[in-house]
Amino acid sequence: MDNAFIATTFDWDHRTPTGWQMFVNKVMRKLRLPVRLTPAPSDMANVEARMNLFHLLEQTVANKVPGDVVDVGCNAGDSTIVMQRVITTLAPEKQVHAYDSFEGLPELTENDAKDGVYGKGYMAAGLDLFTRKFKALNLKMPHTHKGWFEATIPSELPERISFALIDGDLYESTKHVLPHLYARMAPGAIGMIAVYYDEKIFPRKGVSGGYMSPGVKRATDEFFKDKPEKISLLYANEYSNGYFRKL
Ligand SMILES: C[S@@+](CC[C@H](N)C(=O)[O-])C[C@H]1O[C@@H](n2cnc3c(N)ncnc32)[C@H](O)[C@@H]1O
Repeated sequence: MDNAFIATTFDWDHRTPTGWQMFVNKVMRKLRLPVRLTPAPSDMANVEARMNLFHLLEQTVANKVPGDVVDVGCNAGDSTIVMQRVITTLAPEKQVHAYDSFEGLPELTENDAKDGVYGKGYMAAGLDLFTRKFKALNLKMPHTHKGWFEATIPSELPERISFALIDGDLYESTKHVLPHLYARMAPGAIGMIAVYYDEKIFPRKGVSGGYMSPGVKRATDEFFKDKPEKISLLYANEYSNGYFRKL
């Protein structure tokens, strides 16, 4: 299937400065000032991260990996929209499941508070917004699971999982969901870690805060320490994505 919908459905491909930004940049150049305006990066992901999501999910469909598809930390549904589009087109027999508190991040424990990146309630997006987006696109509504991961996972997970997007941003959230997802993933299933920043592999000057989500890497590395799978890093501009394929 084509994946141009990634650029046309959302506002993610605006990387080049707009007209007024170009004008300001011209003035800056004239004044020999080493400053340029660029469009602000998006909040939840960028076009590279969405393309990684598209190709990894499409790969599990092409390889006929059995099981359903889960978006763990779906927020307002933009990642779920990409996933549902792929599934509706290529594997409509699969069910997409989306998990979120729909009220943002939980109370932080010291394991996350020490990173100084997030706070309770960050990124809150309601289920009504999620639903409206699917309606506006006339896209099949996935099964939504509202609540803290600690309450919905594993009890509301499908029996078998062919693809999982893991996007909880926190150490505690990632640590809680990984073993349950891993246990249900079929051989060949792919787990995509939405933000996995490894400065040894790909240091990106000036990257900070949510683009690094250091707790995610800590929890993921701890979990995979004694597993045969290894996390690979995928370039995603200001984001870094990780993924593993279940053996
Ligand atoms: C970065 S956002 C997800 C972005 C989305 N996957 C996308 O790409 O558009 C992270 C989400 O995880 C949710 N979250 C994190 N920890 C959670 C927990 N323990 N229980 C429920 N939701 C949680 C937050 O509410 C937030 O919406």
